[in-house]
Amino acid sequence: MLPPRMVLLPSTVGFIFLLNLFISLLKWIFTTFLRTPKNLTHYGSWALITGATDGIGKALAKKCAQQGLNLILVSRSHNKLKAVETELRAEYPDTKITTVEFDFTGNISNGVRSIEKAIDGVEVGILINNVGITYPSAMFFHEVEEKVWMDIVRVNLEGTTRVTKAVLSGMIKRKRGAIVNIGSGAAIVVPSHPLFTIYAATKAYVDQLSRSMHVEYKKFGIDVQCQVPLYVATKMVSKVASIEKRSMFIPSPDDYAEASISWIGYEARCTPYWPHSLQWSFASLLPHSILDAWRLSIGIRRRSHSTFT
Ligand SMILES: NC(=O)c1ccc[n+]([C@@H]2O[C@H](COP(=O)([O-])OP(=O)(O)OC[C@H]3O[C@@H](n4cnc5c(N)ncnc54)[C@H](OP(=O)(O)O)[C@@H]3O)[C@@H](O)[C@H]2O)c1
Ligand SMILES: *[C@@H]1O[C@H](CO)[C@@H](O)[C@H](O)[C@H]1NC(C)=O
Ligand SMILES: *[C@@H]1O[C@H](CO)[C@@H](O)[C@H](O)[C@H]1NC(C)=O
Repeated sequence: MLPPRMVLLPSTVGFIFLLNLFISLLKWIFTTFLRTPKNLTHYGSWALITGATDGIGKALAKKCAQQGLNLILVSRSHNKLKAVETELRAEYPDTKITTVEFDFTGNISNGVRSIEKAIDGVEVGILINNVGITYPSAMFFHEVEEKVWMDIVRVNLEGTTRVTKAVLSGMIKRKRGAIVNIGSGAAIVVPSHPLFTIYAATKAYVDQLSRSMHVEYKKFGIDVQCQVPLYVATKMVSKVASIEKRSMFIPSPDDYAEASISWIGYEARCTPYWPHSLQWSFASLLPHSILDAWRLSIGIRRRSHSTFT
C-alpha cells in the first residue's frame, strides 16, 4: 500500500489538469458557437476595409454591408474597385459605398492622404486591415529580391500601421471603434514558416501590434483584434500553395467571413473559423521539431515546383 500522500498528489494534479482542459473546451464551445455577435453598427455607421476587391477582404465587405454598415473600400485597381462597388450596390441598395484607389506598394503617404480625405467627417466604426501580400513562390531568404521583400514590408507592416493611425484619431474622439488586423497562422500557429520567412515575420508584427493596442485602447472604447486565418481558398493561396479546392479546412472566403464577422470586438487574438482552431489545437500538441521539419519540407517542395514549371 502506498501512503495516502503519494496517491493524493498525482491525482490532484491530474484532476486540475483535466478540469483545466474541460474549462477550455467549454469556453471554446461557448465562444465559437453560442456567443451573441456584437452589433457592429454600434461602433459607428461605416466600415473601412483594405484589400477589398478580392478574397477575404471582399467577403468581409459583403458581410459588413449585410450588417447595415456603409463601406469605404480601399484597393489598388480602379476597375476592380468599380466592379466590386457595382456588385455590392446591386445586392445591398441601401448601403453607401465610397472607394479609395491606393496601391500600398506605391506612395503610401499619398494613399494615406486619400484615406484621410475619404473619412473626413465620416464615422468609421470598423477598420479592417486586410490587405496583405506574400512571396510569388517559396524562396530562401537570400533569394528574395529587394523589391519583393520591401513591398511585403510596405504593404503588410507600414500600410497596416499608417492606415490604423489615420483611422484611430476619429475613433478616439468618438470613444468607440473596432479594429481588425488580419494576421496569419504562418506567424502564430506554427513555430516557424521557412521559405516564407519575411511574410511570416510581418504577420508576427501584426499580431503583436494588435495585442498591445488591444490593451492600450480598451479604455478608449476601441476593440483591437488580430484574426488568425489558416488556409482560405483565395487567389493568394492558389498562387503560392497551389491549393485550388475548398475543403472543410480550406474554406471559401465567404465561409471564412461568416465566422470572422461574429468575433469582431472580442478577443485580442482569435481564429474565427472553427476547423482552423481545431487544426491549431492539434498543432499545439506536436513538438516544434516535427512542425519545423514539416513546414520546411513543404517549402522546399513548393520551391522546386516553381523552379521547374
Ligand atoms: N488566403 C489565406 O489562406 C490566408 C491565410 C492567412 C492570412 N491571410 C491574409 O489575409 C489577407 C487577405 O488575403 P487574401 O488571401 O484574401 O488575398 P487576395 O485574394 O490576394 O486578395 C488581396 C486583396 O488585396 C488587394 N491588394 C493586393 N496588393 C495590393 C496593393 N499593393 N495595394 C492595394 N491593394 C492590394 C488585392 O487587390 P487586387 O484584387 O487588385 O489584387 C485584393 O483585393 C492578407 O493579409 C493575407 O496575408 C490569408
Ligand atoms: C443593431 O442596432 C441597430 C441600431 O441600434 C438596429 O437597427 C439593428 O437592427 C441591430 N442589428 C442587429 C443585427 O441586431
Ligand atoms: C510621395 O508623393 C509626394 C507628393 O506627391 C512626394 O512629396 C513624396 O516625396 C513621395 N514619397 C515617396 C516615398 O516617393
